[in-house]
Amino acid sequence: MKLSSIITAAAVLMLSAFGAEAENSRVINIRTEKSSLVFSVNPDGMLVCDHYGAAIGDASSFSLRKNYIRGDHGTPYAAYPAMGGRSFGEPALAVTHRNGDLNTELKYVSHTTETLQDNNISETTISLADSIQGLETDLVFTAYWKQNIITAHTVIRNREKGDITLRSFYSSALPIKAEKYLLTHLYGAWAREAQVDRTVLTHGTKSIESRKGVRTTHTESPAFMVSLDTDRFDENNGDVIAGALAWSGNFKLNFEVDEFNILTILAGANPYASEYRLKKGESFTTPEMIWTFSAEGAGGASRNLHRWARDYWMHSGSGTVPSLLNSWEGAYFNFDAKTLTDMIDDAASMGLEMFVLDDGWFGNKYPRNNDKAGLGDWDVNKEKLPEGIDYLASYAHEKGLRFGIWIEPEMVNPKSETAEKHPDWIVKGASYETTLIRNQWLLDMSLPAVQDFVFNVFDRTMSLSDKIDYIKWDANRHVENAGSNGLPDDRQSEFWIRYVQGFYNVMERIRKKYPDVMVQACASGGGRVEYGALKYFDEFWTSDNTEALSRTKIQYGTSLFFPANVIGSHVSAVPNHQTGNITPLKFRFDIACSGRLGMELQPKHMTDDEKAFARKAIESYKGYRDIIMNGDLWRIGSPYDDCGYYGMMYVSEDKSKAVLFTYSIKYQSRTVIPQFRLRGLDPERSYHFKEINVDKPRFWFDGKTLPGDLLEAKGVNIPLRGIYESAVFIIEAE
Ligand code: GLA
Repeated sequence: MKLSSIITAAAVLMLSAFGAEAENSRVINIRTEKSSLVFSVNPDGMLVCDHYGAAIGDASSFSLRKNYIRGDHGTPYAAYPAMGGRSFGEPALAVTHRNGDLNTELKYVSHTTETLQDNNISETTISLADSIQGLETDLVFTAYWKQNIITAHTVIRNREKGDITLRSFYSSALPIKAEKYLLTHLYGAWAREAQVDRTVLTHGTKSIESRKGVRTTHTESPAFMVSLDTDRFDENNGDVIAGALAWSGNFKLNFEVDEFNILTILAGANPYASEYRLKKGESFTTPEMIWTFSAEGAGGASRNLHRWARDYWMHSGSGTVPSLLNSWEGAYFNFDAKTLTDMIDDAASMGLEMFVLDDGWFGNKYPRNNDKAGLGDWDVNKEKLPEGIDYLASYAHEKGLRFGIWIEPEMVNPKSETAEKHPDWIVKGASYETTLIRNQWLLDMSLPAVQDFVFNVFDRTMSLSDKIDYIKWDANRHVENAGSNGLPDDRQSEFWIRYVQGFYNVMERIRKKYPDVMVQACASGGGRVEYGALKYFDEFWTSDNTEALSRTKIQYGTSLFFPANVIGSHVSAVPNHQTGNITPLKFRFDIACSGRLGMELQPKHMTDDEKAFARKAIESYKGYRDIIMNGDLWRIGSPYDDCGYYGMMYVSEDKSKAVLFTYSIKYQSRTVIPQFRLRGLDPERSYHFKEINVDKPRFWFDGKTLPGDLLEAKGVNIPLRGIYESAVFIIEAE
């Protein structure tokens, strides 16, 4: 089928779906190509969620459906449960009304659906109201047809006669019914981010949340998957609902299985200590929640998210990502211009395409020669770099490299001129001393003056040279003793929300002025790996742990929710600076090349042989990276599997090209020959194999052409016997 006819077919399907809904105004069927989210209005006027799962063409009979639940047993399918009435579960909305009433009863008022942009997007707004109290909510759903994503947020409007207080204000609620629920989510710590955790949800509540305000994703993540009707995680089969909240502050995911065996998922900004005053006439818009449904297992859910993130959400989803050398692990704070220009020379000679100057280039009264001083003073350190930044950026450009530079604008060392001048800018509760993390304090982004300062740090850094192509934006602490000088005593709890709103204000301003500069979100490694940041950033620094074995799990976990073109992954020195582990250079490259490739070491400590290998691996990476950046990811097993081997395969959208990474992460003995069943290829075509990053062919199928159906049904056996053995193949349709 030609592309134009596919688009027409999709448009017709969409229209017929909307048509079905129009037949019965009490049923709302929000459609994507392969999913339906269905709501209906029950006889009491309440909006209930009937279905989120496989696509339903005509959902109108949901208006006749009875749920056989006694009224006094509760309202388990409420589309947006508010505290009050017969709602007994965790509320999505809890409000203290003007008259002190804690109860809210939301009833359906109306809904509208609009088709936007090239017929791929539809936006449905369902209006609910508590007519007695004058509170209104709009549930806003944006459905992306081809990507099978539905995003949701809620607008809460105060139409009462006075101020009200929001106590809970989740973005979205989703009640679902299955026999079993397997929750997959991420946990971790600094240098051990994105570890995969799985648990079967039983009756009661499990919540995943952050109360750290900033740098919220080291220990938990606001992204998850629920596999339905099973207690087994399956990469390729079964119904899976995945969700990810786009919010860079405190979040909460609440999973409650009730006495009807219904699972209600709430996702939103964390209500924890966050009462928010909504004045008469004001409205509050929650963060966006991203949902997807896949009938093709976890892999399908990941691919939906990846495609949508690239096509619609992230700041710049397409374009070639330059391979880079970052100065941090190679030089730390100890450099002068010569150290850096030598690194640039080495980077150029290995074929890298960008040089990033990390921490340590600024501060004069308090030079930034370690992490104890200078943070906050964004003038070039004249003693260390008398030549200035433009000299370095121009040097890089002359060598054919782009240039990037590090900033950490939201934070200060107490030993900085900024902290001395503006003690009132520091995040701090009224009574206690401000604590230090990495010798630094947090600036209060809820203050307009701080927002201006942070914008100016970016703006002034960009003005140091007209050859700055990339900014690494770091954030190395979280909130402790929360509090803001800018808020009255009885509204201190709004700090958590207002910090993030302030951060987004600044990012909006930055993106308006600098739409093209690449910006990496780093927060002590993977502390800001979430969709709220991804709207403004191009890349995540996935972890400060650059060691290849640790990276297998960190990058695998991140890949569940985020596309490879945001996963920063660097080759570093051995013994590794974080873990002390020693891994072969090929293994380090083969891991790093499955994301955004960089190097982070002192090249002059590499041998000639190592440099020659690096040159070859970087060159081959440039040949296939477009498949990684824009293709579909098919995971083959996982680094968590007992077998100790797994694969990552990226396939171009037209299935004509693929790159297959295979790794062994334990000794396999002489008898275990890892077998890799390939996925995502066209069974009707045949594919030619070429192993790369090796001197000569090693395996029987190298250089051969094999049928797609055979590869899918059986795969190939690859004798990766030892720990840290790896093989990478370019696979091309004949
Ligand atoms: C953080 C980052 C590192 C590096 C240092 C610099 O730890 O995660 O990548 O930039 O700060 O101080």
